[in-house]
Amino acid sequence: MPFIKNNSIYYNFIILLALKTCACTKFMYHMPTLQQILITAKQSLREAGVESAFLDAELLLAHALEKRREFVIGNPEYKLTESEADIFNDFISRRQNREPVAKIIGKKEFWGREFTVSGATLDPRPDSETIIEAVFELFPDKNAALKVIDFGTGTGCLLLTILAEYPNSLGIGVDLSENTLNIAKNNAGKLGLAKRGDFILNNWAGGIDGKFDLIISNPPYIKNSDIEHLAPEVSMHEPYLALAGGDDGLDCYRLLAPSSKHLLNKEGYIVFEFGMGQENDVRNIIKQAGMQFISFRNDMAGVPRCVVASY
Ligand SMILES: C[S@@+](CC[C@H](N)C(=O)[O-])C[C@H]1O[C@@H](n2cnc3c(N)ncnc32)[C@H](O)[C@@H]1O
Repeated sequence: MPFIKNNSIYYNFIILLALKTCACTKFMYHMPTLQQILITAKQSLREAGVESAFLDAELLLAHALEKRREFVIGNPEYKLTESEADIFNDFISRRQNREPVAKIIGKKEFWGREFTVSGATLDPRPDSETIIEAVFELFPDKNAALKVIDFGTGTGCLLLTILAEYPNSLGIGVDLSENTLNIAKNNAGKLGLAKRGDFILNNWAGGIDGKFDLIISNPPYIKNSDIEHLAPEVSMHEPYLALAGGDDGLDCYRLLAPSSKHLLNKEGYIVFEFGMGQENDVRNIIKQAGMQFISFRNDMAGVPRCVVASY
């Protein structure tokens, strides 16, 4: 190497490079492995009162690495880069503050499809899949050309699932929140359903004309005074507009039931979700609106979760 030895610029460059490589190697050596960072994260989530600390830490780590959860489980010795560790630590701080995993990663699965969520939307819940099951029973022919309206559409999870499952159907999603509607429209586009789903800013059914074969809704049904006592994931991070059902939790049914009757085809059905223990009140409201009560449908836990009624 006489050339380098005799040339101070090249010599300095090589020394610098060697020092940098050493520093970098030393730094990498100190970066945590997946296993190490997970142990710490799970512990801090548990201390913050997160019940699903293990699962959540793994899901958030997979998202930080832009990998599947299987990678996290299958590669305990993988060393994180500095930026991966920073992203993950930020996710963990948010989860310690009881922000739901779905809000942190910006998506939630519903009936096998992925929906974008945000701070403006209620995260889709497995309980609401009860509405989808009820619709399948009411309309077994998937080629049916249904006209559907969804009051309080949120992410659009209910309406878009039905449009995807009934490819000849058309639908309208109604919501009072512009930000929520933007997310629903975005979901419609991602699922290739934008041409069959329209999303409108409206106060429930006010001013809406037309007749529908299917009217669905998962309206806000929590008693206003109960909201602050719910889990922080809900009380602090879900939109109040998506939760607050008035003093007794039933305000939205009183508004929706009479207007739904006017919008329903004679052979059509309404399917509304409700909260635990509200079935008798909701049935009475539906009967008072002049509709025929047909049945309740239970969720996976065996709890009555939605009502089916007809004109
Ligand atoms: C419980 S969330 C249901 C969201 C979604 N359908 C789901 O099942 O995940 C209720 C939705 O009703 C909307 N909402 C509340 N008040 C409304 C009103 N007066 N008119 C229309 N939508 C309303 C909220 O913005 C929220 O998106």
